Amino acid sequence: MPSIKATYSSATNSCEELTPDSCGIIIFGASGDLVYRKLIPALFNLYTRNLMPITFYILGFARTEMTDEEFKERIRNSLISVHKISDTQMVESFLSQCRYTSGEYNDIEAYRRLQKKAAGCDCDFTKKENKLFYLALPPQLHPTVVSRLSQSGLTMEGKNEDPWARVVFEKPFGHDLKSALELDKHLTSMLNPSQIFRIDHYLGKETVQSILMLRFANIMFEPLWNQRYIDNIQITVAESVGVEHRGGYYEKAGCLRDMFQNHMLQMLSLVTMEPPTRFKAHCVQSERVKLLHAIRPWSERTLKDNIVRAQYVEGKVNNEDVHGYHSEPNIAPDSTTETFVGMKLYIDNWRWQDVPIYMRSGKRLSMRESEIAVTFKRVPHSLFGLESQHEMPSNILVMKIQPNEGVDLTIHTKQPGPKACMASLSLSFKYSEVFDTVPQDAYERLLLDCMLGDRTLFLSREGVEAAWKIVDPVLNFWRDHPEQAPLHTYSAGSWGPKASDELLLRNGHQWRNPPEEHGTHFKSLAKPLIIRK
Ligand code: BG6
Repeated sequence: MPSIKATYSSATNSCEELTPDSCGIIIFGASGDLVYRKLIPALFNLYTRNLMPITFYILGFARTEMTDEEFKERIRNSLISVHKISDTQMVESFLSQCRYTSGEYNDIEAYRRLQKKAAGCDCDFTKKENKLFYLALPPQLHPTVVSRLSQSGLTMEGKNEDPWARVVFEKPFGHDLKSALELDKHLTSMLNPSQIFRIDHYLGKETVQSILMLRFANIMFEPLWNQRYIDNIQITVAESVGVEHRGGYYEKAGCLRDMFQNHMLQMLSLVTMEPPTRFKAHCVQSERVKLLHAIRPWSERTLKDNIVRAQYVEGKVNNEDVHGYHSEPNIAPDSTTETFVGMKLYIDNWRWQDVPIYMRSGKRLSMRESEIAVTFKRVPHSLFGLESQHEMPSNILVMKIQPNEGVDLTIHTKQPGPKACMASLSLSFKYSEVFDTVPQDAYERLLLDCMLGDRTLFLSREGVEAAWKIVDPVLNFWRDHPEQAPLHTYSAGSWGPKASDELLLRNGHQWRNPPEEHGTHFKSLAKPLIIRK
């Protein structure tokens, strides 16, 4: 494959990471899967990159009874056996700063023990009382834990936030708009807004962060970034895995709550929002929220016609036979939970009026591939002798979110040979090739930002509510009018149900199904587009 050479130089001197102030990290739900899969490896990586505070400790809290040594053994096991860390000395040094205590989440006595243990750790390690509480817990436990933390004084801050106490919440934030509002009311009665960090891990992905830089650090995109020049936008988050061991949670959530209420809408807002005046939390967050408010409200017709829900049945993924959703663990045999959603929506503002935005996400699709594709309009006049400009291919800018993180821009050029012979080629770069590194895990970025107190990549209360206002009417429509919103099926390993393709065909569009359509770096245009004069 021919490669277009890309080199880079750091254009700013803000490339140095800051190191946070000394603090204790107290993880609730410390016996759960997320902790060993994501949080501990992220903290360990920060440690190896010298980005943890000079002094810190990690204190696990969960119902499971464990000694400090047993907790350390779990971490050791996860880092060495699962995450294949070979530097055992580094692992041991990290482990020496880990502690554990157990208790029931609603038992105030358990919080007194926790407080005592944390005070001991403050004294042994940090000599400061800064604390980051990470709630890796099901959302129904959030109010209880926050009440108990507050009652036991653990979330009390000092003057000018010295010491500080911050609480990190994992999604989902509520189950619908009503419960999200109630949750917020509860949280804000116990904590200052500045103490609340709502994580959407997609905002921490390098490629998602780089959307803003691509748009606002390059002069050539912004003048074209509107309804005059953009034909449509597609956002795909495809997963090849099924529901795995999370059936209990997923049955109640479904794809719309699990992926759209948060990750998909946040990516959409970054691609389509107005330029913030500064790269500061309140400026970026408020532009994201404004954009969500501009999404055209659903009507009964668009709820029926512009959204497709579906569930996977058995099929083949990577040449292996896999079960249908109904045969996965902890799934009701007659479950109607959707594992795929495809939708078309519009943004009612000057920039985006009538540009179709297509979004889809699903489990057990053909492959793991997430991308945002911006398709530009065709040139207004076909200069090269094609019968009409409608035969000219479009330019497409693809932000590849994962895997193969990078950017592709399709342009058209002269193919050597006959005078008017045209070819499409892609100007592209891959992060792994250009920067000689794989992008940092989202949790590393977000945990570091929590410790630094930088909220730019976190969700605001308004952002969460605005997203629920988009998703709630869909959930209600599905509940109240199931006959008008049938649950389609799709084979595992496919690109979703036929109805999702039909959704785009109605506008003369089609999904970009990687890699067949855009895996090649250079391709001659199909026959009718090669013109000889
Ligand atoms: C989570 C969802 O928020 O994101 C999961 O709950 C999904 O269902 C996951 O698999 C996808 O995240 P990533 O980073 O693997 O794309």
